[in-house]
Amino acid sequence: MAFFSSSTRQVPPTAVVPQHVAVIMDGNGRWAKKRFLPRVAGHVKGVELVREMVRACLERGIQYLTLFAFSSENWRRPQDEVSLLMQLFVKALEQEVDKLDRNGVRLRIIGDLSRFEPRLQELIRQAETRTAGNTRLDLTIAANYGGRWDIMQATNQMLATQPEKRDGWQESDLEPHLSMSFAPEPDLFIRTGGEERISNFLLWQLAYTELYFTPVLWPDFDTAEFDKAITSFQQRERRFGRTSEQLVEKPNA
Ligand code: IPE
Ligand code: IPE
Ligand code: MG
Repeated sequence: MAFFSSSTRQVPPTAVVPQHVAVIMDGNGRWAKKRFLPRVAGHVKGVELVREMVRACLERGIQYLTLFAFSSENWRRPQDEVSLLMQLFVKALEQEVDKLDRNGVRLRIIGDLSRFEPRLQELIRQAETRTAGNTRLDLTIAANYGGRWDIMQATNQMLATQPEKRDGWQESDLEPHLSMSFAPEPDLFIRTGGEERISNFLLWQLAYTELYFTPVLWPDFDTAEFDKAITSFQQRERRFGRTSEQLVEKPNA
């Protein structure tokens, strides 16, 4: 296969739990609206569901959980909602990091953090440093994140550190500079809330991820719903371009 240049090579087993789950937590606003509550009530409930999801991943032995909390496009929302979301983010960092640390969770925040206020940036830095030695679960929160931004920043970083790449580069040259370079590509992508789109989440990394869309709104996405997504994943055959027969004979040839 002389022309095979994609970096997505390995065929991970599907019968087991996914190693890396990436989630677009959508539907908070609609959940609140249905109850005649302000949108922020949906976001508050949404934070509770993050806690439940982390617990579920720890129990199931899932190593990487990546959550989309705020997209680079979400700044377009009304100023009040944006500032409430920022307050919730600060509060969650102040209140949850201790417990995450005690449970062996390593926390990382990916995205363009320069747009956040200094207090939030400092809390992020502290949380990452404090949990840096933990290995039970890698929890990543994407905040002011965009998949296109990630590819652009990685390209700029690569060219700044290795100017000779200007004459030609490969996927493997870029990958160390992407925000998720520490993790394998997601095995399972979940989007709650009924929309079936990627909304500029992990564009590069989702190339061969199994996609799962559910109409369940994020504040209703409990452990039982999560298990349905995992079961759906376990029933799929991941071929990465190969045929079924090849997989039976030699999965990683
Ligand atoms: C997702 O829920 C949370 C964020 C984008 C921060 P939404 O706020 O998008 O909820 P809906 O889609 O309006 O219901
Ligand atoms: C995507 O949700 C981003 C997050 C969940 C943080 P949105 O609700 O903002 O997505 P669109 O704009 O409807 O696609
Ligand atoms: Mg939404």
